[in-house]
Amino acid sequence: MENRRLGHTKLVVSPVCVGTSPLGSFPAQYGYEVSTEQAISTLRRVFEGPFTFIDTSNEYGGGESERRIGQAMAQAGGLPQDVVLATKVDPLPGSTDFSGDRVRASVEESLERLGLDRLQLVYLHDPEKISFADGVASGGPLEALIGLRDQGVIDYIGVAGGPIPLMLQYLDTDAFDAVISHNRFTLVDQSALPLIEDAHRRGVGFVNGAPYGGGMLVKGPDAHPNYCYAPAGEATRDRVRAMERVLTAAGIPLAAAALQYSLREERIAATIVGMSTPERVEQTIELAEWPIPAEVWAEIEPLAVVGRSGHEV
Ligand SMILES: NC(=O)c1ccc[n+]([C@@H]2O[C@H](COP(=O)([O-])OP(=O)(O)OC[C@H]3O[C@@H](n4cnc5c(N)ncnc54)[C@H](OP(=O)(O)O)[C@@H]3O)[C@@H](O)[C@H]2O)c1
Repeated sequence: MENRRLGHTKLVVSPVCVGTSPLGSFPAQYGYEVSTEQAISTLRRVFEGPFTFIDTSNEYGGGESERRIGQAMAQAGGLPQDVVLATKVDPLPGSTDFSGDRVRASVEESLERLGLDRLQLVYLHDPEKISFADGVASGGPLEALIGLRDQGVIDYIGVAGGPIPLMLQYLDTDAFDAVISHNRFTLVDQSALPLIEDAHRRGVGFVNGAPYGGGMLVKGPDAHPNYCYAPAGEATRDRVRAMERVLTAAGIPLAAAALQYSLREERIAATIVGMSTPERVEQTIELAEWPIPAEVWAEIEPLAVVGRSGHEV
């Protein structure tokens, strides 16, 4: 697993990025609580390597994800030198204010929680919360992010969200250095492919979030029937069960195929895996390196592309 350059930026990142949405404690989304101690020991383990890319946001766990990263960094004497830490700007919880002023306040909050004076990479988070026109309007969030980049508060800016047509519209502004799509390039949904192609053509770093669809493709469709944080349809779960049968017969965990499906796509700079326990680091390395013969991929791939829109967004 060699490190990769993030688009045209100077950032070099590990192909696995550590996602910290579960680690902020987000029981409504993941179904369990995560204590501060557990989160900090997970982060301390992450700092030991080999993953050198961490993803958070202003809103994960109501700010708890960033706060915990800040605490772990303080304990460790700062962010390890080779680690890239990305965060995102968000409206206040329960608010839809995504004005330029709110973006600047969100960045201030992130800097304070993380104990930093500049941020390497900041994404406009879930821009589907507002219209594209409001997103690019004068006094709006994109203008504010560009201003912060011009001032040197932020090194690079990105956009991170769901609907692919909207994400394509944002890339068409040519303002962004990186893009996150989530739950849309996995074993059950490849609807992000046009965005992957577009980002590659523009030199924008493409980052693929949620290779396990938020849990189903690691915990199994019966233990975790949700995909993309909502109940999955029976057809999607059946497709995953069929893949599981092929993989189990070959002695391969479903999660190994789910993770490698993203890792082996060369136009994806990094794949964000959410994790909230220290042992996930070793487990993720093992899953990333699990040998999967070509004949197994040949059986899995037709199941993966059947019914491309496996979930409704
Ligand atoms: N709009 C956006 O920008 C956006 C949207 C979605 C996601 N993201 C980013 O992408 C990251 C990934 O998404 P996600 O966390 O929702 O989904 P995910 O990576 O598909 O799945 C995370 C879930 O898988 C579990 N898991 C991970 N490795 C495991 C293993 N080896 N064995 C068993 N369970 C394992 C985690 O459990 P534990 O908690 O127990 O480790 C967690 O419940 C997020 O954390 C976030 O940083 C961004």
